[in-house]
Amino acid sequence: MSAILLDGAGVARQVYATLAPRIAALQRRGVRPGLAAVLAGDDPASRSYIRNKVRACAAAGLHSEVRDLPADCAEGAVLGIIDELNRSSNIHGIIVQLPLPRHLNGNRIVQSIRIEKDVDGFSWHNLGALVEGHPALVPCTPLGVIFMLDHAGIAIEGRHAVVIGRSNIVGKPLALLLISRGATVTVCNSRTPDIGTHTGMADIVIAAAGRPRLVRADMIREGAAVIDVGINRLPGGKLVGDVDFEGARARAGWISPVPGGVGPMTVAMLISNTVSAAERQAARSADSRRENGDAPDDLTGTA
Ligand code: GUN
Repeated sequence: MSAILLDGAGVARQVYATLAPRIAALQRRGVRPGLAAVLAGDDPASRSYIRNKVRACAAAGLHSEVRDLPADCAEGAVLGIIDELNRSSNIHGIIVQLPLPRHLNGNRIVQSIRIEKDVDGFSWHNLGALVEGHPALVPCTPLGVIFMLDHAGIAIEGRHAVVIGRSNIVGKPLALLLISRGATVTVCNSRTPDIGTHTGMADIVIAAAGRPRLVRADMIREGAAVIDVGINRLPGGKLVGDVDFEGARARAGWISPVPGGVGPMTVAMLISNTVSAAERQAARSADSRRENGDAPDDLTGTA
């Protein structure tokens, strides 16, 4: 048996196609969705992720800007930039690329982003809404994983999902999303003894531990869906996930590759969150204009 390949790049293209009319509708109202990325330091992986995000914004017709800060920047400088972006009417979404240099308080910085512009979904408000089961802006990688499963017709409700990884960015929010969709969820991490006893019983295995080839073929139940969130660079420069892809694809029912799997979906969900944030902000400013008796959108700019 050879697994069905979960082509994240292809699914992401479909996401962009469904976003296009929403972006066009905003532009007709004079709103071009805008994303700002704050990047501190010179981590090569972070720089590469930001390049991909900026490229995706340009391809989708979004405005984007990167605030590039040196590794030794002061926390006050980062907070000042976020304050300015929070107030900017051209910016509807703000992300702070993680990890930040160690001397910066990541929590203080991320929590200073206005909730409506928190398109990474990392604010306590947005994470709390996810816990409560009424998600607003949801972290992009977990959202992309769920989208991929749904797109492939892989059932979640009533299934056993094993998530390997407990990060605030992926593992924890993904577990919450799977729980809210009715899955039975086990959350392992890289220190869980004998991870295979858990993954061997799973219908869905999601590897997000950041350890190359942590998940081997013998750890997977035949026919399971295997989603690889890991992006690891081997000493020779090759990019691999957390799953032994060649081995696992012979046993799994579905498998996502690295690269070309979850990565493009993360970026597509970021663009989708930015468009949703722009729609909400445009609706809110139209409401406040109406309350003030100002001209509605479709009349502004006409003689
Ligand atoms: N670092 C790794 N993944 C992410 C992400 O999804 N968002 C941000 N801001 N930083 C990251």
